[in-house]
Amino acid sequence: MPDNDFDPRERVQQIQSEFAERGDTTGWFDALYKEAAGNTERIPWADLEPNPYFKEWAERNDLSGDGRSALVVGCGLGDDANYLNQLGFKVSAFDLSPTAIDWAKKLYGEIDIRFEVMNLFEPYRGWLGAFDFVLEIYTIQPLPMEMREDAIDAVSRFVKDGGELVVVTRGREDDEPVDQVPWPLSRKDLSRFEVNGLLQTELVVCPAVNEGEPDRWVIKYDKN
Ligand SMILES: C[S@@+](CC[C@H](N)C(=O)[O-])C[C@H]1O[C@@H](n2cnc3c(N)ncnc32)[C@H](O)[C@@H]1O
Repeated sequence: MPDNDFDPRERVQQIQSEFAERGDTTGWFDALYKEAAGNTERIPWADLEPNPYFKEWAERNDLSGDGRSALVVGCGLGDDANYLNQLGFKVSAFDLSPTAIDWAKKLYGEIDIRFEVMNLFEPYRGWLGAFDFVLEIYTIQPLPMEMREDAIDAVSRFVKDGGELVVVTRGREDDEPVDQVPWPLSRKDLSRFEVNGLLQTELVVCPAVNEGEPDRWVIKYDKN
């Protein structure tokens, strides 16, 4: 199919439902990266740049790593890991997809970032409660709703006492129905972070860059 006719967001819907029909909730991520074969235009979230909503938040808050440790959850091609490295964090980043991690290493392998293939639900024990700054962008929203609480619990566990978590996601009202992937998070969903001992200190609602898409939320938590 010529690239002009290819809609990467439509392909995500298709491949996610093909895998879901076979009872596989996460296999589609690696399959999508594989079939993209190095072409970022085939991955809707791959911008080769830091996430614009996170970058704006980081600039407004003068975010600076000063050698603190950071973890990027579901890092994809590693653009946000690279950005945190530039801000002075000592960065680790993981993704379930071996193809994504190979790709991230090709892009950023020269830089001092630790990239690992790891499942959020089977984390290295040494990474639990180990990070000063944890960044989660768009990893919870494409996981099925029945995995939502477990995913939020798993992300929360990486944050050190005294550390911080930033989540970037599509947002929705509590009573707004969800239909197709990605399934935005509601304030009720977010309350699960607080069950994990994280205190919400900021929720910024950003209009989506692409017209017609749901607002993006940038949410900041502190762990005391
Ligand atoms: C929508 S993409 C977002 C990628 C990246 N955060 C970004 O914004 O460019 C979601 C990512 O989460 C990864 N992922 C999904 N389930 C995961 C899991 N259980 N453990 C680790 N990574 C996972 C996928 O492979 C994919 O790279």
